Parts: sequence; structure tokens; C-alpha cells
Amino acid sequence: MFKQKDLLGLRNLSSEEIMEILELAKEMKVRIDNPEKRSNELKRSSIVTLFYENSTRTKMSFMLAGDYLGAMVKDLGVSTSSVNKGESLIDTGVTLDMMGINVMIIRHSMTGAAHLLARNVEASVVNAGDGTNEHPTQALLDLFTILEYKKRFKDLNVTILGDIAHSRVARSNVFGLTKLGAKVTLAGPSTLVSNSMKSLGVDVTTDIHEAVRNADVIMGLRIQFERQKNMPFPNLREYSNLFGLNTEVLKYAKDDVLIMHPGPVNRGIELSTEIIDGKNSVINVQVKNGVAVRMAILKLLTERKRGEA
Ligand code: CP
Repeated sequence: MFKQKDLLGLRNLSSEEIMEILELAKEMKVRIDNPEKRSNELKRSSIVTLFYENSTRTKMSFMLAGDYLGAMVKDLGVSTSSVNKGESLIDTGVTLDMMGINVMIIRHSMTGAAHLLARNVEASVVNAGDGTNEHPTQALLDLFTILEYKKRFKDLNVTILGDIAHSRVARSNVFGLTKLGAKVTLAGPSTLVSNSMKSLGVDVTTDIHEAVRNADVIMGLRIQFERQKNMPFPNLREYSNLFGLNTEVLKYAKDDVLIMHPGPVNRGIELSTEIIDGKNSVINVQVKNGVAVRMAILKLLTERKRGEA
């Protein structure tokens, strides 16, 4: 039974809690394929999105997820809010709490922002990405997609390729995948992946052929230019030549390897267009699964608050 007040990361979720979310998401996915997808299950709940950083997928899929479940869903519109007059995160959160918001979904450039908010409000808080720390709902939809296609996690070889150093998606996936028994390899240039990451229970390589050879799943990552002080490689063409996933590199991979990417993709840099749109790619399926997984998360958090679970 899901007992968490907040969803802040996969580091502090058990494998049972992760599987509970994935199981419920399976039911939700069946529902969103039905034209009569809207229910009124969460009609007593109000949800607000607070995005201090840009988003298309996460914000929109949370808003749709809440809408499909019958909740009242509002976006604060951070750039036009009193945040621009200097209001602190805690004061913003307490203000929304007083208005009766039940779930706050926050994305922020500061590591720990969601945790800070969660400690100061009654509402459930969902971390939609905090700095380079975690992006748990992205990892949950990635796990859901892997399970949908590969039917297991145990001993599955998952390679995460690219800008590991700045990726909250990579960190959340490492926590989730290792808890569920998968074997994770982190791969990229030595400026973006380091041997110290082995302490997370993963393998590390700077050799792209080694990274793809035995992989059942390859997850490409966006180069996070906005989080880098110095360019971690000489130029984009060199990065793409050495670490980009293209049809040449994919010859070394298994025929049924699953190609994933959290999006948005820098086309032609981390993944070539043939790979993004190719037969092994499930990037668009990930987007669809994001709505189902976020419906499950909203339902579990709000039911727990009402003592229904
Ligand atoms: N994957 C992801 O977080 O995408 P958005 O930035 O569009 O939300």
C-alpha cells in the first residue's frame, strides 16, 4: 500500500512501491486509449503545477493526467507570478497550501527544491525535476516502458548514454533499475561520466561499442547545455562522431535493442534521425506512457491523503 505523502525521488522508494505505481499505470494506460477516458475520481482534489524551468512533456502530461481523473488542475505560470517580485519558494508554497491545493508538482533548477517545499506544505509534492538530482516520474515512465516491451528487469542490460554528469533522469533511472534487478552501464565521454559513479552499483565505460554490444535497452540523454559552465567536449560534431547513436553504431547492438530517450532530443547530436524514427525506437511510446504513469501517481498520492488506500 502506497503510504508516501510526496514523490520526491526513486532513491527513497522501495521496489514494492515502484511496482505498485507501475501496476496501476497499466490500468491507466488502458483507460487513456478509451474515448471515455475522463472520470471524476479526483473531483475533490486540486492540483497546481509550478515549473521554474521549461517543460513540454512533464507539465502537459501531469495536467492531462489530473484532467482525465477529474481533478481541478491549474498552472501557476511562474514567469508571471509573484516569484518575479522576489517571493520565496516556501512563501509561494504556503500561499498555495492556504488556497487548498492538494498536490503541488514542482520543477526547479535547485537540487532539493522539491524536498524543501514538501517539508513546508501540507499538500503532496511531486518532484518534476530538481537540478541535477532526480526526475522520478520520468524514470517511472521509463521503467514502465521497459517492462511493457521486455517483460522483466532481472538481469536486463540497460545502457544510459550521454551527459550522465548533469542528468537527473540518469540518476533516477539508476536508483529504480538497480532496485529492480537490472544491470546498468553508464556511458559517455570521460568529462561526463566517471568511475566514481560505480559506487551507485553500475558499470561505467567511455567506449561506445562496449556500451551498446550487450544492451537490451539503450537510453540516450540530452546534452544539458543549460547546466554546463564549460563545454565538456571540443565541439558538437566531435561529440556526435564519438558518442552519437547512429545506424553504424547500432550494428554492434542486439537486433531487438530498445532505443529510448526522455526528450527533448537534440536531433543529429545524441541520436541520429534514422534512430529516433527507426523500428527500435520507443521514444513516442514513452511520451504516451508518461500520462498513464502520472495518472497512477496522482491517484495514489490523493487516495493516501483521503485514507482510501
Ligand atoms: N523529459 C522531460 O522532462 O521533458 P520536458 O522537459 O519536456 O518535460
